[in-house]
Amino acid sequence: MTDNFVTIYEVGPRDGLQNEPAIVPTKHKVALIDLLSQTGLRHIEATSFVSPKWVPQMADSTEVMAGIKRKSGVTYAALTPNMKGLEAALKAGVDEVAIFGSASESFSQKNINCTIAESLERFIPVAKAALAAGVSLRGYVSCVIACPYEGAVAPAQVRKVTQALLDLGCYQVSLGDTIGKGTPETTGILFDDLLKTVPAAKLAGHFHDTDGTALENVKTALDYGLRCFDSAIGGLGGCPYAPGAKGNLSTIPLVEMLYDAGWQTGLDLEKLQMAQDYLQSNIAGVSDAV
Ligand code: HMG
Ligand code: MG
Repeated sequence: MTDNFVTIYEVGPRDGLQNEPAIVPTKHKVALIDLLSQTGLRHIEATSFVSPKWVPQMADSTEVMAGIKRKSGVTYAALTPNMKGLEAALKAGVDEVAIFGSASESFSQKNINCTIAESLERFIPVAKAALAAGVSLRGYVSCVIACPYEGAVAPAQVRKVTQALLDLGCYQVSLGDTIGKGTPETTGILFDDLLKTVPAAKLAGHFHDTDGTALENVKTALDYGLRCFDSAIGGLGGCPYAPGAKGNLSTIPLVEMLYDAGWQTGLDLEKLQMAQDYLQSNIAGVSDAV
């Protein structure tokens, strides 16, 4: 990989479709992932193995994994909040799982029904079993800038949870600006603190685009040395437990911005456009986001 390579981690099929008001038919999810597999992406978060009572939109995770045509070289990932989710994900043959915590206590309670400390305890066996099974392990920290219930979140708290996830064996921790309140200024303040102890190479940026600042936040993160960013095709997304969380940073504008600035991503914009067109034509409710 060249020095000017930026990795794009596509989260639309999970972080996007989990928030669609209607349940998207499995065949459309599968078709979308298959189109994304042709774009040069190396990382696609395909689904999540969570409680269907909590997130009914992801109830067909096993069927989605069984339906997709896997492209060699692409890592297909899924969220796994607990052992039940991990076991189902391994059975479905995922390549990577993600444990997801929060820097804010209230969001942790609302999203995964436990305190931050309890979540880290719960992740220990999940991480051990994932690594023992030979799948890679990613981590998320939500609310790295602000929480929908508590407001501003202290960078030191983000650092604590990030380090805990790295200590569990995550190869990377993705920093979620869950409600998209970050600005270049607050993003910079976060990295000034975080990078005191955590190397930029272990971090990814996951910026929701509620206030239209996500691209600027990526530019700030690039200046701090981050080289991996999550985005969602068509700007899909949000989180059902984060009121006000609008779409994720949209993949095509992100790639265009990176190309204009001289970065490489390995992604084919025409093929990304085909995947985005498929969304617009077939998946109800997304046209506003695109
Ligand atoms: P709980 O209710 O405390 O769990 O939920 P429980 O262990 O008491 O189980 C309750 C029921 O759920 C039981 O079923 C379990 O079997 C079932 P019952 O006996 O009542 O019939 N269950 C499961 N079913 C399938 N798969 C599972 C599973 N676990 C339990 N894995 C739990 C705790 C963590 C399960 C729940 O809170 C949950 O599923 N939360 C997930 C919420 C979620 O997916 N949020 C969105 C993703 S996070 C996000 O979007 C942020 C991110 O994008 C970054 C950012 O932007 O910040 C990553
Ligand atoms: Mg998210």
